Amino acid sequence: MKIAIGSDHAGFQRKKEVIGFLTKVGHRVVDLGCYSEDSCDYPDYARKVARAVSLERAERGILICGTGIGMAMAANKFKGVRAAVCWNVKTAALASEHNQANILCLSGRFISTLLGEKMIRAWLKTPFAGGRHQRRIKKIEILETTCKQQK
Ligand code: RB5
Repeated sequence: MKIAIGSDHAGFQRKKEVIGFLTKVGHRVVDLGCYSEDSCDYPDYARKVARAVSLERAERGILICGTGIGMAMAANKFKGVRAAVCWNVKTAALASEHNQANILCLSGRFISTLLGEKMIRAWLKTPFAGGRHQRRIKKIEILETTCKQQK
């Protein structure tokens, strides 16, 4: 799978680890920055990854900042993006199963490397359940067009 990944300074080290893990298990990873631990602004990297997913240049995206929260807020401004902040394996699996999340937002500061990997595995391998959840996704898509202007 082609996965776009981005972080700010607070997620930089974790991003490096995640790229190593994803590459090892056979995914094609596109690193959209940041590229050092120098302080930077998470919306700049949320924009790059969310744009890639929105334009279908990547099938999925992973965003890492201090908490994952700011990344999700920014990424969810993009059409077709469903970015989920998850904190454990169950919520990561449910983000796929119920919400068809195409971007996973992780904390670089408050979860371990191993937990992050387990969450990514669960998110990637869990299929979308469809059915009533599809109807709800459709309603989110309607909100995208009725609530704000889109580029
Ligand atoms: C940076 O200090 C921090 O605010 C940022 O990484 C993130 O946690 C925001 O949501």
